[in-house]
Amino acid sequence: MSFNPLQEKGIPLEKQIRTWHDIVKRPFNKYEIDCYSRTRQILMNGIEVEAWNFKHNLSRTCSDPETRKLIALSRRIEDMQQTTVNWLTPACQSVLETTLGYEQVAVDLTAWMAQNEPDDYVRETFNFGLLEDFDHLYRYSQWAYMMEGCDPNNILQGMTDVVVGRPTQNHHNCNALRLRKHYDKMTAEPQTKVNIYTLVSGEQQTHNFYAEHGMMYANDDLRRTYGEICDVEEEHVTMYESLIDPTETPYEKLLLHEFTEVCNYYNCYKDEEDDKLKQIWEEFLGFELGHLQIAVDLFKENEGRDPEEVIGNKVVLPCHFESQKEYVTNILENEIDKRLAQDEERSYTTINKLPDDWKSYKVQEKVGLEGAPTEETIRLVRESINRDIVSADDKLIHKQPDLVKRGLEIMAQAPNTVDYEDYKEMDKVDLFEF
Ligand SMILES: [Fe+2]
Ligand SMILES: [Fe+2]
Ligand SMILES: [Fe+2]
Ligand SMILES: [Fe+2]
Repeated sequence: MSFNPLQEKGIPLEKQIRTWHDIVKRPFNKYEIDCYSRTRQILMNGIEVEAWNFKHNLSRTCSDPETRKLIALSRRIEDMQQTTVNWLTPACQSVLETTLGYEQVAVDLTAWMAQNEPDDYVRETFNFGLLEDFDHLYRYSQWAYMMEGCDPNNILQGMTDVVVGRPTQNHHNCNALRLRKHYDKMTAEPQTKVNIYTLVSGEQQTHNFYAEHGMMYANDDLRRTYGEICDVEEEHVTMYESLIDPTETPYEKLLLHEFTEVCNYYNCYKDEEDDKLKQIWEEFLGFELGHLQIAVDLFKENEGRDPEEVIGNKVVLPCHFESQKEYVTNILENEIDKRLAQDEERSYTTINKLPDDWKSYKVQEKVGLEGAPTEETIRLVRESINRDIVSADDKLIHKQPDLVKRGLEIMAQAPNTVDYEDYKEMDKVDLFEF
């Protein structure tokens, strides 16, 4: 089933103001919600934050009074939508539990997008980022256990593996190296544009969540872990947003933002099995179709171009969630030693081909000088239960020493690095049973 969003009127803006009781709904039950309903809720919060923030930035650089008025009106709706969606989170879902949800979004969304991405270079970039969020999930799972006795599968429900990925201490790059080649707005497929706009929103909100919540724990090692991973999310926002053609005009970007919202709500509506959530996705799809109409009119009036040139004539699916274990394992085993090349093409390379003057070594040496918090994490859990918290097939779990051997740079290692030999020792210890 597909449809042309340009032919839908949606719900008119003046009917989108709701009561406070409707805006702030009852939260979901964290014990009963399907993990992929939670990932949709986390993602759609990020989409709304980006929609709201973009419209503020647009207003600050736009002198047309009609545009300013229309986006002031719809921006308030975006903000109300954000409140509705984010505040479905129950107060009893801890910061660490929510954090596991954020990384589950990153892993399973990026994996699905990579498989549905028509542009080879963009797909390669998605796969590159995928292995980093996958490692974040592993590090945070240790903390969820140590601080709250939480089984990561309380949140992940066995749909996403928890084992070591590309070690987080190796995610710290020269931020300029993170800048990728951007797509060409004239030739890129709408699917590519929507995939990237969606992922940027998700990563940005992940960054914001860590930046705003990492200090809510009193444990210094955990605070530093949030600080370290928050900084990687800043790199992820830098990396993914640099894929966007910077010559897109402000009206073109407005069109793409509303189209991205339409596509995501449509995808959520199509997949959702929870009645309450499905109703929200349906209503907000109607809202976004209304916003899209406004963006289309502004685009036509101000640029005299056909919106189909930018967004095509059918909805695309950017956010289908399902277990991606097989796909992720394959990327993990084949690309764990991948790194950002220092070349004009902004390509990728492997650890063994890195030059001694690779710019990211300098960053890693500096930030890891007193130890990497994400390595300390594994030391601490090992101290406590003689090994790490993992959840995957036995075969994959036993590959951890080998993955670390291949995935860890020899140069610029933090002094507290948990290395291949340590993982070999941990591998001899029986798994912790919850
Ligand atoms: Fe919205
Ligand atoms: Fe992450
Ligand atoms: Fe990320
Ligand atoms: Fe919108």
